[in-house]
Amino acid sequence: MQSATVVIDHPLVQHKLTVLRDRETSTSKFRGVLRELSLLLAYEVTRDLPLTSRRIETPLEPMDAPVLEGKKLCFVSVLRAGNGLLEGMLDLVPTARVGHVGMYRDPETLEPVEYYFKVPASLDERIVIVVDPMLATGHSAAGAVDRLKQAGARDIRFLALLAAPEGLRAFHSRHPDVPVYTAAVDRELNEKAYILPGLGDAGDRMFGTK
Ligand code: URA
Repeated sequence: MQSATVVIDHPLVQHKLTVLRDRETSTSKFRGVLRELSLLLAYEVTRDLPLTSRRIETPLEPMDAPVLEGKKLCFVSVLRAGNGLLEGMLDLVPTARVGHVGMYRDPETLEPVEYYFKVPASLDERIVIVVDPMLATGHSAAGAVDRLKQAGARDIRFLALLAAPEGLRAFHSRHPDVPVYTAAVDRELNEKAYILPGLGDAGDRMFGTK
């Protein structure tokens, strides 16, 4: 299957992303704007959800009206920064199920190590949207998707606020069947695997840690 990166270049998305990138943006503003942005991103990542129709009666006459087909959505947050995207997405799709995957990078091997995994049942029947604001090296993203596939997920999309070209290449080579949706593909990674120009550490920016 074809690897795809979809850049969400809507002007509102780009404007809000600039607010997040700005080092002067406070933690509370960062959180608020991230929530707004996640709504817009969720709108784009769900744009092609399959529809069916339902017979209803408007006050004037009957009609066959579009409704979402039965396939249920599952959002999976890659901890901890994924949670910052989750809330706005749940505002848009409150009926979605939610899973969590915890990964950290082993300082020796630089490989992702899983420390938490909890997902809803019947993943094979769901459209799974994995969320992590920063797709940097792509290792934890690919590791999270490996685990979701082992747990039965078949129809997966990945949503990141920002991505690095190196991370996208690594991710697509491991998971060519999983499209990545992102608001921007930045220039490169630095020697500490931070995205340049980026927005810093997304978790620290949203939770006020460091
Ligand atoms: N994770 C972050 O939070 N920021 C980066 O730039 C890269 C990974």
